[in-house]
Amino acid sequence: MSEFVFMNGEYIEAEKAVLPVRTHAFLYGTSVFEGIRAYYNKDENQLYAFRVKEHYERLIRSAKIMWMENPYSLDEYCKITIDLLRKNEYRTDVYIRPTLYKSSIKVGPTLTDNEDSFLIFTTPFGDYFDANAGLKLCVSNWRRTSDNAIPPRAKVSGAYANSALIKTDAHEAGFDDAVVLSESGQVTEGSAMNIFLIINGVLTTTSTTDDILVGVTRNTVIELARELGIPVKERAIDRTELYLADEVFCCGTGAQIVPVESIDHRKVGNGKIGQITKQIQTLYYDVVKGKIEKFKEWCTPVYD
Ligand SMILES: Cc1ncc(COP(=O)(O)O)c(C=O)c1O
Repeated sequence: MSEFVFMNGEYIEAEKAVLPVRTHAFLYGTSVFEGIRAYYNKDENQLYAFRVKEHYERLIRSAKIMWMENPYSLDEYCKITIDLLRKNEYRTDVYIRPTLYKSSIKVGPTLTDNEDSFLIFTTPFGDYFDANAGLKLCVSNWRRTSDNAIPPRAKVSGAYANSALIKTDAHEAGFDDAVVLSESGQVTEGSAMNIFLIINGVLTTTSTTDDILVGVTRNTVIELARELGIPVKERAIDRTELYLADEVFCCGTGAQIVPVESIDHRKVGNGKIGQITKQIQTLYYDVVKGKIEKFKEWCTPVYD
């Protein structure tokens, strides 16, 4: 059975969802997007979409930076997404990709006087990384784009040329991924995930003004740490702190919560998954499946 896609205000079969080759977003990377997960809870036979509202709030912020008009309200975006999942009748974990894009047939990069269109596709999706095997990271010799170049705060497709170089060169050098530094040489994040260090029992992560995408999972981790009574600090992080931290993990919608085993061939802690990482990871996987009452408001059920 063909999957449905939402495009031009309709639910249509995926094969029919095609774009003209001169679409502005294709020519210039002028689209903003989200990556959202929905988790299948087998015991309840229910699919839960995770933090849909927060993802669309970020899409709306990205759109503002990029001179885009939102064709739908926040509530409408959420409803369209849940309706699409229901139409596709998934009984498995799913990745959801909404995209708001410059759809004019137009040569030249100007963002104004340029139509905006919206689409969503969905696809069954397992783990991006093995949650139990620690990542082997390096520090990338690429730099994260800065707020004054291509702002990482906006999730813009064109900015992913930066992520693609970071990730591919790390892979080619035998690593799983890379930590990328800012132009001023401080830690920002991974190619498509935020980073947390545990330093003397304090969960430490880069600030929202450190050239990062302000991750929804990052916020989830901070909330869960509070729940677990773990102190959290958001601050600038030096490269060498990566080598000295007791534990390190990365997080993102795709990556979920993934421990880091080594950075630049230096073992993190004893090279095994750390206790605080494990605690947060365990709670996270229960929360996303709607198993923890206190955080159930983050999980939107797809089926009645
Ligand atoms: C560059 C970058 N940083 C961080 C993240 C994590 O963000 P979120 O937790 O909202 O998925 C992503 C996710 O796609 C990303 O692409």
